[in-house]
Amino acid sequence: MRDTFLNACKGIKTDYTPVWFMRQAGRYMPEYQKIRQKYDFLTMCKTPEIAAEVTLQPVKILGVDAAILFSDILIPLEGMGIKIEFTDDKGPQVYPTIKTSSHIKFLKEIELDLVYYVFQTIKILIKELEVPLIGFAASPFTLATYIIEGGSTKDFINTKRFMFSEPEGFHKLMKIFTDSTIKYLKEQIKAGVHVVQIFDTWAGILSPFDYEIFVKPYVKKIIDSINKVPVIYFCSNTSGLANNLKDLNANVLSIDWKIDMKDATDLFKYHALQGNLDPLTLLGTEDELFKRVKKILIHGRLAKAHIFNLGHGVNINTSVDILKKVVDFVHEFKTMEV
Ligand code: CP3
Repeated sequence: MRDTFLNACKGIKTDYTPVWFMRQAGRYMPEYQKIRQKYDFLTMCKTPEIAAEVTLQPVKILGVDAAILFSDILIPLEGMGIKIEFTDDKGPQVYPTIKTSSHIKFLKEIELDLVYYVFQTIKILIKELEVPLIGFAASPFTLATYIIEGGSTKDFINTKRFMFSEPEGFHKLMKIFTDSTIKYLKEQIKAGVHVVQIFDTWAGILSPFDYEIFVKPYVKKIIDSINKVPVIYFCSNTSGLANNLKDLNANVLSIDWKIDMKDATDLFKYHALQGNLDPLTLLGTEDELFKRVKKILIHGRLAKAHIFNLGHGVNINTSVDILKKVVDFVHEFKTMEV
């Protein structure tokens, strides 16, 4: 197996910078669309042969250094008594919603049998892959925003109302998600994933003070309970939360583009870093794009170890050719003059 990515996760400096992209499997890719025309997204996630095939697409087409399990952060809710649906217009829909403490009874700790297809997909993949496989889960807070709001939101009013009016109930919710996430990730590791990533897409909507109270203890518990494989923690608003993230025991911090890579290497000396290209630079000219890619790579050399990635997922309008050019550029950069 190509182990450059795994070494970087362990904080070992590598002879070239490994690269993969968050949301590297998806609708921007014609090969994905071809399968997606026949099946809805949930069916794809729940059919191990299809999920495995789609996981492999970016590895074969782009030549990235890691595969990420094709699934979704909301899938574990299916094992917790909650129904999920993905609609083309409104995105994910979750029900019943949990808007107050009195609704917590709708949620039960995860039953792994109900999401067996996730572990089956992993078992198929580890036989076929030549690069490491990343498993994943959302952080309890990010998952909670979906179950409280009932889907995606821009203002998080229900989440914050719950949090600030019934903090004890909110902590109870976090605890259920934390225990279930640990079980869920450990089963992915048992099935064979080489690394896990925790997605904290929405933690950045909180003040550092509230991050400490409502997010960090639970993320910390998850990270500290995973000791067989490296852990990547992805959190939005890295710059605003920098002081809060410093002492997390994750092997890798995945950072967004709102912090300069050089500043990040000063702040996070003991973590390997993953990131941090603005995904929308991929929609501009190659000249503008590669100026930024190069800058990130140069500064990434100052990190304990660096994995090139975006600061968030690939946008649907991205060209496959451009992404492939970025992969080749990152791989060849080691020999370039700086
Ligand atoms: O390639 C990969 O990265 C692996 C698969 C993956 C998906 N979602 C597939 C997906 C991963 C790791 C995720 C994580 C995820 N899902 C996050 C965290 C990362 C992030 O992007 O912030 C979040 C917030 C979700 C929730 C979610 N899933 C939303 C809001 C949506 C709808 C909007 C959108 O981007 O399409 C999804 C759907 C989804 N998840 C798709 C894919 C490929 C599109 C499904 C389709 O084909 O219609």
